[in-house]
Amino acid sequence: ENEKVKNILAALKSYPDFPKQGILFWDIFSVLNTPSAARDLVSLLESHIHEKCPQVDVFVGLESRGFLFGLPLSTSFFKPFIPIRKKGKLPGKTKEVSFKLEYGEDVFEIQAESIKPGQCVVILDDLLATGGSLKAANELVSSMGGTVGLNLVCIELKDLQGRNNITSPVQSVLQL
Ligand code: PRP
Ligand code: MG
Repeated sequence: ENEKVKNILAALKSYPDFPKQGILFWDIFSVLNTPSAARDLVSLLESHIHEKCPQVDVFVGLESRGFLFGLPLSTSFFKPFIPIRKKGKLPGKTKEVSFKLEYGEDVFEIQAESIKPGQCVVILDDLLATGGSLKAANELVSSMGGTVGLNLVCIELKDLQGRNNITSPVQSVLQL
C-alpha cells in the first residue's frame, strides 16, 4: 500500500493560484495520465471498499471527476454505476438538492428510483475539500432510502476538515 501511495504522489501535480489566487489546485488528471499511478490508485480504492464496505450494492459518482472512478470500480465489483449530475443534465424523473459552494449555490440531481430502499451505496469523488458536495450527495441517497456505506475520495484536504460535515463513513487514499 505504501509503495502505491508513493507512486501516486510522485505523479500528482499541484498548481498554485488556480482556478483563482490563493487556491492550490491538485490535478487528479496528472495521476490518470501516468498508467502505473492510475492503476495503483484504482487498486487502493478497491482495497478500501473491500475493507470498509464489502457489501456495496451501488456505486454513485459525482459529476464530473467522480465519474472517472465510478466506472472501473462498478465493473470490478460488478455493481451498477449511478451518476449524480449538476442540474438539468439527467433525463426522466429526478430528485434534486441544492448545496453551498465557496460562492453561491449549486444543484445536484439523481434519477428517480436509481437507488432502491435499503441498498448500500459507495459515493465516489476525486477530492474532499469543504465536504459540501459529498454532504449534498448523502442527502440525495438518503432521500431515496439508500444507506451510504462509504464516501470514498482520492484526495482529502485535511485542513478544511470537510469530513466533519459528513455523518456517514469517509475514507481517502491521500491526505494532503
Ligand atoms: C470539485 C471536486 C469535488 C468538489 C470538492 O468539483 O472535484 O467534486 O469540488 O469540493 P467540496 O468538498 O468543497 O464540495 P467541481 O465542483 O470543481 O467540479 P468538477 O468535478 O466537475 O470539476
Ligand atoms: Mg467534482
